[in-house]
Amino acid sequence: MSILSNKHILLGVTGSIAGYKAADLASKLAQAGALVDVLLTGAGEKFITPLTFQSVTGRRAYTDKDLWGNEAHILHVSFGKTADLLVIAPCTANTIAKLANGLADNLLTVTALAAECPLVIAPAMDGGMFYHPTMQENLAKLKKGGAIIIGPAEGHLASGLTGKGRMIEPAEIFGHIRIVLGKNGILAGKKILITAGGTQEALDPVRVITNHSSGKQGYALAQAALDAGADVCLITAPTALTPPVGARVVKINSAQEMLNAVLAESADALIMAAAAADFTPKNTAKDKMKKRDGIPQVELTAAPDILKTVSNQKSEKKRFQVVVGFAAESRNLLENAAEKLQSKKLDLIVANDISANDAGFAVDTNRVTLLFANGTQEILPLMSKTEVAEKIIEHTSRLLE
Ligand code: CTP
Repeated sequence: MSILSNKHILLGVTGSIAGYKAADLASKLAQAGALVDVLLTGAGEKFITPLTFQSVTGRRAYTDKDLWGNEAHILHVSFGKTADLLVIAPCTANTIAKLANGLADNLLTVTALAAECPLVIAPAMDGGMFYHPTMQENLAKLKKGGAIIIGPAEGHLASGLTGKGRMIEPAEIFGHIRIVLGKNGILAGKKILITAGGTQEALDPVRVITNHSSGKQGYALAQAALDAGADVCLITAPTALTPPVGARVVKINSAQEMLNAVLAESADALIMAAAAADFTPKNTAKDKMKKRDGIPQVELTAAPDILKTVSNQKSEKKRFQVVVGFAAESRNLLENAAEKLQSKKLDLIVANDISANDAGFAVDTNRVTLLFANGTQEILPLMSKTEVAEKIIEHTSRLLE
C-alpha cells in the first residue's frame, strides 16, 4: 500500500502562474491514492479553475465562495481536523505573509490556522521578492513554527528575469510530502544503505562491460525505505532513473567503486539490490582501443564480491546489523539462493527467477521468494517492484527489531 493511500491531503493553490503545475501535483497525489481537497484562493482562481482540479482529483475543489456557503461554519474546522497534511503550492509572498502573521481572511488561510497537521509550503514569486527582508523574516517565522519550506528554485521567472523564485517541480514536492508523511514510519531513526543498478567495468575510456540491470528494484527499495521514515543512502551504478527525493545518492561505476562506497558507510541495514559485476577487465586500456589494431584479447579477473567482503568483516565489527541480498538466477533458483544466503552470511535473500518475462531485469514487475537465515521461506506472487520493495522493507524492519 502506498504511503499516500487514503491520506487526506489539502492542497492550497494561490495566485501564481505556477498554479498550472499544481494540477500535476494534485493528479500525482490522487493517482497515488490520496484523497485530495483543493482550496483555491481568489487570486489562485484567476490562474486555474476548480474544474481543472476536480477533473484530476475526482473530488470537488473549494473556493472562497465556500467560506460563506452552507458548510461555512464547519468547513475549515473539519478540514483542519481530518487532514493528514496541508501543502500550499504555489504559495505567494502574500499568502506567506498572512500565514506568518496568523491572518485568516480566506478559506485557505482560515483552514491553515485551524489545521493540526504538518504544513508544507512551496513558495513561488518573481525576481527579488524572495530576498526581501520581510519575506525572509516571514519564512523564518513559519519554519520556527514547524512549517516545511521547499524551494523556491532558481531559474526562468514569469517576468523574464532569471533568479530564485520558481516553484519547485511537482515531482519534487510530491517526494517531500512522502517524507513528511513517512516521518514516524517503521524505519524511523534507522539508516538504510541500498545499492542499485548494474556496475560498469571499463575496457577503455569508451567501452564498458555491464549487465541488464535497470536499477528499478533498488530505486523502489530506496523509496520504500524513505516512506518508512528511514535515513537512506543509495549507492547507484549508472541508470536512467531519477533517485527518490530525500535519498543521499553516491554515484559509482565499477564493482570496486561500489565496494569502496559501501565500506565508507555504516548503517543499520544494507540491502544489496545491485547487479555488481563478478568479472572485470584485468587492465583498463588508457587510450581507446583502435579497430586497426585488431580484435583485442581482453583478460578478465574477479571483481570484488561486496557481500562476501562485508560478511567477512561482520564477525569483527558489525557494520550492518541486518544484511539483505538478492539472487538473480536462471536455473535452480532456490538451491542457488540458499547457498548464497549461507555463503554471504545474509539475514535474508530475495531470490528472483530472471528467466521469466515478467520478472527480473528491466521490467516493472517481479516474482520473488524470500529465504531467511532461520530457514523459513515466503513465496510472493507476481507483484510490482514497488510492492516487492515494500515487503522487503517490512521484513528488514522486523529483522532489525
Ligand atoms: N553481489 C556482490 N558483489 C558482487 C556480485 C554480487 O555483493 N561482485 C551481491 C549482489 O548484489 C546480490 C548477491 O551478491 O545481492 C548475489 O548476486 P548474484 O549476481 O545473484 O550472485 P553472485 O554472487 O554474483 O554469484 P553467481 O554469479 O554465481 O550467481
